[in-house]
Amino acid sequence: MDARDKFTLGLELPTDPRWVNIAEKNIRAILVDHAYCEQKAASSCISLIVAYPEKDKLVEVLTPVVAEEWSHFERVMQALRKRGYSLDRPRKDVYVERLFQVSRKGGSRTEQLLEKLLMNALIEARSCERFKLLWKHIPDPELSEFYYELMVSEAGHYRNFLQLAKEYIPADDVMQRWRELLQEEALIMQQLDVRDDRMH
Ligand SMILES: [Fe+2]
Ligand SMILES: [Fe+2]
Repeated sequence: MDARDKFTLGLELPTDPRWVNIAEKNIRAILVDHAYCEQKAASSCISLIVAYPEKDKLVEVLTPVVAEEWSHFERVMQALRKRGYSLDRPRKDVYVERLFQVSRKGGSRTEQLLEKLLMNALIEARSCERFKLLWKHIPDPELSEFYYELMVSEAGHYRNFLQLAKEYIPADDVMQRWRELLQEEALIMQQLDVRDDRMH
């Protein structure tokens, strides 16, 4: 992995460069959407721990990730409050809905685990790539620093999910499905509108 790719994590399609320019002008909506992303990240880890309690490594690795995602949520809420904004009602998350549509349904419990871990890894990878853009382009130094920190943190989570997949499923199978999903994700990104009020 060279330095340039360090925080794009194998994604097939870089974010449309227009996104960060319009997003930075609508930071309120971006913060609200981001708060929900952190909430969903925490709840997704809890769901995995609840669904696979016998998988020691998964429970061990994901328990601190829940706390970390929840602290991200808390910090985004602080950033909102500081600006006089509030959380507001959740919006439709088309990106995650579209990803869910391409995830394989059914199969064995282990096959389902692979799908879930890789979906989480994908969302972490894309979030990380977007935080990198926000870090570099947001003029507010405090927010920019926060996004840098999140970029590093979500890159760690991405690695956690991929490593966990390899813990329970043969590495070749993991990487084959991962490459398929990277392509699906790129297609989804290509088809989605570039929006100023969404993290993805
Ligand atoms: Fe997070
Ligand atoms: Fe994360």
